Parts: sequence; C-alpha cells; structure tokens
Amino acid sequence: MAFPYEHEREVRILSRGWGDPRTRTLEGWKALGGYQALEKALRMPRGEVIDEVKASGLRGRGGAGFPTGVKWSFMPKEKTGPQYLCCNADESEPGTFKDRELLRWTPHQLIEGCLIAAHAIQADHVFIYCRGEFFEAVQVLARAVEEAYEAGLIGKDILGTGIDIELTVHSGAGAYICGEETALMNSLEGRRGLPRIKPPFPAAVGAFGRPTTINNVETLCAVPHIVQHGGAWYREQGTEKSSGTKLFCVSGHVVRPGNYELPLGFPLKDLIYDVCGGFRPGRSLKAVIPGGSSVPILNAAECEDCTLDYEGVVEAGSMLGCASVIIMDDTTDIVKQVRRMVDFYAHESCGQCTPCREGTQWMARILRRIEEGRGTEEDMDTLLDLGDQMTGTTICVLSDSAAAPVASSIAKFRDDYLALIRRGERVGAA
Ligand SMILES: Cc1cc2nc3c(=O)[nH]c(=O)nc-3n(C[C@H](O)[C@H](O)[C@H](O)COP(=O)(O)O)c2cc1C
Ligand code: SF4
Repeated sequence: MAFPYEHEREVRILSRGWGDPRTRTLEGWKALGGYQALEKALRMPRGEVIDEVKASGLRGRGGAGFPTGVKWSFMPKEKTGPQYLCCNADESEPGTFKDRELLRWTPHQLIEGCLIAAHAIQADHVFIYCRGEFFEAVQVLARAVEEAYEAGLIGKDILGTGIDIELTVHSGAGAYICGEETALMNSLEGRRGLPRIKPPFPAAVGAFGRPTTINNVETLCAVPHIVQHGGAWYREQGTEKSSGTKLFCVSGHVVRPGNYELPLGFPLKDLIYDVCGGFRPGRSLKAVIPGGSSVPILNAAECEDCTLDYEGVVEAGSMLGCASVIIMDDTTDIVKQVRRMVDFYAHESCGQCTPCREGTQWMARILRRIEEGRGTEEDMDTLLDLGDQMTGTTICVLSDSAAAPVASSIAKFRDDYLALIRRGERVGAA
C-alpha cells in the first residue's frame, strides 16, 4: 500500500514500512531485518554501542539537536542502583506529527531502539511516555510490547545474554508541558507535570531520583539502523554537522502536506515546490516556520537559500527544532497566526514562573487587540519588551518559545501589524 504522500527524493530508513500493517507485528518487523541490531548490540560492550552512536553524529530529534552519544555518556560510569531510560513520545508541538506515525506503523523499531539504548546506558527499565491523545498509537505499541515480552526480547535474560530490561508504556493526560523532560519525569512519578530546576540534570538525578536519560521517539528509532550498519553508514546521509535523515512534518498551504523522510541539508525550496507540490494556483510563499511553533518565523527572502539542517536554518534566521515545517502562502494573516500560537502557550504554561504565566497572557491579549483593529504602534514595543523579559528568565524554555514568534513576526512582518493598527485608526476616525 502506498503511504500518502511519498516522494522519490525521500530516503526512507525510519519510515520504511509505513502504511503496511504487517510492520506492526513482530513477524513483519523481523521480515525487514528487525531485532538483528538488538542481538548485535547486546553482545557488544556498552561503551562500543555509545561510540558507534557518537560516530554516527546522531543528534536528538526532540528539538534541541543535542548529540545523542554524548548525552548517553553523561550517565554514571559506576552503577550504584536502578537507572532509567525515558522515551519522550509526548509529541504536542503544534505542527509536529512524526512520532505518532513511528509509534503506529513501526512500534518494534522503537522498542528495539529503546532496548539498545537501555543496554548502552545500563538502564534497568524503559518508560515510553506517550501523549494522552494517542489512543490508537498506544494500543498498537502496547500490543507490540506484549509480543516482544512473549518472544523474550524484553524482560529477564534477553536473548540468553543475561541482560534484564523491563519496558512500560505510560500514557500522559494530554499536557504540552509534559513533553519537557523534567515535567515528563514528574508526571511519570505521579506528580503534577511541572518542569524542575536544572541542575541537577537527569543523568545525575532523574526519574524516581535515579540517573535517567530522556530521548525522543525519532532519535531512538534511528539507533537500530546505526548499530546494524555503522556510524559511518549513517553519515552518508546529511551534512558534516547534521548527519542522517530527518522526518519533516510539513503542514500548511502546500498541495501535498505530510511526513517526508529526507537527508538533513535538503533545500527548503525543494521541499516546498518539488516534494510538496508548491502552492495552489495563483498563490505564493509568504512565510515559513521551519521547526514547530517554538522557533522564529522566516520570510520569503530568508527561505530562498535555506537548507534544512541544524546550521542552515540558524543561518537563515531560525532553528530546525523538530523539523515541523509550517508553510504559509500570501493569503495568511500573520498576526492572527502568531496570536493563535501565543494563545496555545498561554493555555499550556504550567504557571510556575511569573514571566511565562503573566507574559503569555498579556501577549495574547495585546495581539488580540491588534487583530481586532484596537491596537497602537506602542503595542508592538510593549510586545517586544515583554518578549525580552520572558526570554532566559524562566525554569524551562516554554516562555522563550512563546516570545520567539512574536519578536520575529514584528521584525519581519511589521507592515502586517501596521495595516491592522492603521485600519483600526481609520475606523476610529470615521
Ligand atoms: C515545553 C517543551 C515541550 C517539549 N516537548 C517535547 C516533546 O513533545 N517531545 C520531545 O521529544 N521533546 C520535547 N521537548 C524536549 C525535551 O525536553 C527533551 O529535550 C527531548 O525529549 C530530548 O530528546 P532528544 O535528545 O532525543 O532530542 C520539549 C521541551 C519543552 C521545553
Ligand atoms: S517557563 Fe512556563 S511552562 Fe516553563 S516552568 Fe516556567 S511557567 Fe512553567
């Protein structure tokens, strides 16, 4: 069955098997070579597994792009008690819908990646923390976990190696903030999903007070392929600093939105016009948010030479984040879009930090005022000032994430703001 939409320029490593229900089963996954990497990894010294992942250059796909092998090496050298791996499957960033597909089409790929990672960091227990709304995905994953337990791939003495790893699927209750790694651990422990102050970092004091590594679903799904084929093989895709393939979640005003697995460094314009079929007749590019709602917006000129890798997107004026590319044509009301994003952050703020709790609400109110034609030019300065106070001053970066699209949209689409403000002035004068 063809999976909508596919494109010939895709390099399907993680998304291989999507659309085919057989890959959801243990038998189907094994038919694609599944669990061979686990067998190999369990017989490798754990340091070698970490070195292979370091050699691959794999960077975390949850947003920050931190090198995965380096993160794993932060775990204690000498184990003094239980250690944990948390797989972050909370995927709630507006515009992001890749982890859900990995969970529902290739659950064994994720289980295999989790088990290899757990071996590498000496974790006794893996927790896959799933977004509360992922009903179908969680059912598919839970069935796959049962199958893997029955086949001796999880639990005691895995594949006769003497290694014990347990795995639990945990459903959240649908809060965006529980995707932040320390809030996730609090939620897992049965507490309110509030981010913790760092340090201590999770590798020292994590879930249940024990050393813990947190990785994104897509990050862990890449691991079996790296172990199986080697870090150098993985580096054949992508760029020097951003190796491998990436799942790009494309949404917005293009003819063929969807998930596409492409090598990092792929040109943004090729993604828009070739892979996604461009715009509807008569429409043109106005703006792109390249990495999910938390990153600065790019205008059409900035998209011109932008390549989709961690460095390329920064050079263009934004961040790759989790590569959720939101594309907007010339009919887009930028102020309205930004206001809707800020509404989201205001709703999802956990309320611990004053700049975030109050700032997101103020921003939303000011933006709504401008949108409704009741704004002034000073409101833009107030928004920028508020954004400054919300950035770098809070426990987690949700606050920074809310401020970034506001500041960048004022800098790059000032005329859109002015048009609404002046329309209001004209209405007032009439
Ligand atoms: C507000 C907020 C929400 C987040 N949501 C997610 C999420 O849904 N999934 C995810 O993998 N990472 C999310 N992150 C990033 C995680 O804190 C963490 O960095 C990531 O899971 C680490 O995995 P990686 O190293 O594999 O990228 C979020 C961060 C913040 C501040
Ligand atoms: S920045 Fe916002 S979401 Fe993050 S801890 Fe502070 S109040 Fe909570």
